[in-house]
Amino acid sequence: MGLDKRLEGKVAVVTGAGRGIGRAIALRLAADGASVVLNSLSESAEKVAAEITAAGGQAIAVRGDVSKSEDVARLIESATAAYGRLDILVNNAGVTRDNLLLRMSEDDWDTVMDTNLKSVYLCCRAAVKPMLKSRAGGRIINLSSIVGLTGNAGQANYAASKAGIIGFTKALAKELASRQVTVNAIAPGFIVTDMTAGLSEEANQALVKRIPLGTLGTPDDVAAVAAFLASDEARYITGQTLTVDGGMTL
Ligand SMILES: NC(=O)c1ccc[n+]([C@@H]2O[C@H](COP(=O)([O-])OP(=O)(O)OC[C@H]3O[C@@H](n4cnc5c(N)ncnc54)[C@H](O)[C@@H]3O)[C@@H](O)[C@H]2O)c1
Repeated sequence: MGLDKRLEGKVAVVTGAGRGIGRAIALRLAADGASVVLNSLSESAEKVAAEITAAGGQAIAVRGDVSKSEDVARLIESATAAYGRLDILVNNAGVTRDNLLLRMSEDDWDTVMDTNLKSVYLCCRAAVKPMLKSRAGGRIINLSSIVGLTGNAGQANYAASKAGIIGFTKALAKELASRQVTVNAIAPGFIVTDMTAGLSEEANQALVKRIPLGTLGTPDDVAAVAAFLASDEARYITGQTLTVDGGMTL
């Protein structure tokens, strides 16, 4: 098996895969040979799944809200029904509801915690059963953020959810290690997607000045790391948070 098809025979679920980083991860895992189940809230993942199948890959799309346990159960069941197993779970879906604390509503808090953190608990809980059943190990990859490591004014809810993911990742890594299921997090820096669109040219230039490698990141930069963590080559890495930020937090 060459490096290009290093995920041949593996089945992956990617949440929030209709656009941005999730889309790039789904495309990359499929290009590496995995069969991919793409979740999204809307029809957007269906288009990405069609892109994958048009290129000769294996993919299905399943709509659902990852903060709802019934939707998550349906997502994981669809994966095992379609492909008979589950090897890789990428918890990518996430939202921001930025505000300074005094103006942060309870709803802003709950939406971010439910979508970013509770979803990781729900998806892992549902995915671990089929992963253990196959006795072939597994890979769980959670999207955190450098904001979970450094904090950021106006993002107390987001930072708490992303820091929570890091603690969750470490705990679950310890729980599942004896079964050869690895659990790691990726902490991207500033990646150009819809989530980060809308910054002024001025703000962009100020950001770039803080990035030693001198450019903003792309979804493909993050997808390459996810594909590595999903591969057999990363079998001895667990409980870690890999920062992908062009050196921004150095
Ligand atoms: N873009 C960045 O600079 C950056 C940096 C650090 C971390 N991240 C993290 O990477 C992940 C992807 O970010 P992105 O920039 O691609 O964001 P994005 O907003 O472009 O995409 C997020 C996707 O998640 C989906 N989603 C939101 N709520 C959902 C729900 N309840 N159920 C199912 N899907 C849902 C959205 O529909 C969207 O397709 C997020 O977890 C984000 O926090 C992004």
